[in-house]
Amino acid sequence: MNTELHVYTMPRIGDKAPDFEAVTTTGKLKFSEYNKESWVVLFSHPADFTPVCTTEMSGFAREKKFFEERNTKLLGLSIDSIHAHIAWVNAVHEKTGVLFEFPIIADIDMSVSRLYGMLQPGESETAAVRAVFIIDPEGKVRLIMYYPLNVGRNMEEIKRSLIALQTSDVNKCAMPLDWKPGEKVIVPAPKTIEALAERKKSDLEMVDWYLAKRSID
Ligand code: BEZ
Repeated sequence: MNTELHVYTMPRIGDKAPDFEAVTTTGKLKFSEYNKESWVVLFSHPADFTPVCTTEMSGFAREKKFFEERNTKLLGLSIDSIHAHIAWVNAVHEKTGVLFEFPIIADIDMSVSRLYGMLQPGESETAAVRAVFIIDPEGKVRLIMYYPLNVGRNMEEIKRSLIALQTSDVNKCAMPLDWKPGEKVIVPAPKTIEALAERKKSDLEMVDWYLAKRSID
């Protein structure tokens, strides 16, 4: 095994998303430009012309309107050439009518995969795992998912996560287990004795003083 391959960076939640330039199916792209004033869902898949990846990419493509309505751009990646990407996009379009309109990075030198910890040698030394990075318009990594090669992701969870992050930012709240849009959210716990007294008098739905929920519009 090539031990050099084990020296990888791995962005963490709260980090500035590492910037890069890449060749993609929509042309050359600089990440920080693409991310300007927009959320980005950056996701990797192991390889073009593989079945699980085809279902996942088609799933992202079908949700174009959902992501656009939430000021969110998609950005795919795999360690394949731009020619392989173009041929796969074309083949899926011809066979199913689904067009992958979002850019897909041709990370043939693995530079972006390494930067984002998408190459995990215990799983594969040559194919990216199924990673998802949700990055906010300030360029901060807000949520990370990693799936192995043989398990496709859950589109509903990706969508739910994005809505939860955006709702949390707007309403300054946290989301409980299995939270879904329309459900009550968790109000931050009081941090002073005075705030605790106010909390006790409030009409919030309360399990205990530190676990209170409210509706949002
Ligand atoms: C797939 O997308 O079907 C796949 C890719 C790499 C390994 C296993 C499955």
